[in-house]
Amino acid sequence: MSGSLEGQVIVVTGASRGIGLATARSLLQRGARVALLARQRPALQGALAALAAPQRTLALSADVSERAAITAALAQVAAQWGRIDGLVNNVGFQFARRLELMSEAEIRKLVDLNFLGTVFASQAVIAHLRAAGGGRIVNVSSATVRHPNEFSHVGMYSACKAAVEQFSAELRHELKADRIMVSVFSCGAVATGSVANFDPAALAEAMQDWLTKGPLCDGVLQPHTVGEAIAACFALPPGVALEFLELRPNVPTPKMLESTQTAGAADAGAS
Ligand SMILES: NC(=O)c1ccc[n+]([C@@H]2O[C@H](COP(=O)([O-])OP(=O)(O)OC[C@H]3O[C@@H](n4cnc5c(N)ncnc54)[C@H](OP(=O)(O)O)[C@@H]3O)[C@@H](O)[C@H]2O)c1
Repeated sequence: MSGSLEGQVIVVTGASRGIGLATARSLLQRGARVALLARQRPALQGALAALAAPQRTLALSADVSERAAITAALAQVAAQWGRIDGLVNNVGFQFARRLELMSEAEIRKLVDLNFLGTVFASQAVIAHLRAAGGGRIVNVSSATVRHPNEFSHVGMYSACKAAVEQFSAELRHELKADRIMVSVFSCGAVATGSVANFDPAALAEAMQDWLTKGPLCDGVLQPHTVGEAIAACFALPPGVALEFLELRPNVPTPKMLESTQTAGAADAGAS
């Protein structure tokens, strides 16, 4: 897949670091204008500086779990650039803990960030994409939905991503007449440092369980590889739907926490 995205305006949620920032960089390299959305302004400003494309980037501070906030942010993008052609629903909250020990707040946060944020942003972008004559929504899922050996104690996270996938299938049908394509992009482990979200004791317990599934995992992807694959979804010809794409590392790698979160055996390119 290749192609210029010149003229397209694409919003990436969770774009201040990790996969979202890498996706923003790849979209810019293909010529798009990119609106980066996250909550914390200093990190967003850092991302803008790192991308060094002030004419084609915009930073918006909003919480995707608040429908009014994401709706207002998308309206701001359309007001600034006159259109929206695409949305990457990338915000997610990875978190492992045995269900029995999860607090109500943790469960609600998992649902808010991994499912409802995608629902609210999708709702808010539809009118903008329709006004542009069509477009694409790419919803980021996780290989934990299909591969039990990805990790352990991620049932709630994985269930929310499975909900995103079913939601996407229904929405794809609903929006077909508007020439709006809805894709699910899934991936295995990516070296983004997101393990920092995990509680150390819960992480240690999950690691122990993960080891019982076998001594090897499949390695880890680099964010730039994943970002490039997401950006490529937008370069398909109009009228061509990409329904589902899953990127996974493929190098048998001993299971150690370091091997899942640092420079990868499977994909050791620049990050
Ligand atoms: N990393 C992996 O191994 C992996 C594997 C498979 C799938 N995924 C999925 O890929 C996506 C990105 O993962 P990642 O590892 O790149 O994440 P990450 O490094 O933790 O980055 C998360 C981004 O989302 C933003 N964010 C968090 N909560 C938000 C909210 N409520 N509203 C708006 N922005 C919010 C963060 O900025 P603020 O905190 O400033 O808001 C940050 O920009 C997620 O959907 C994840 O489930 C990741």
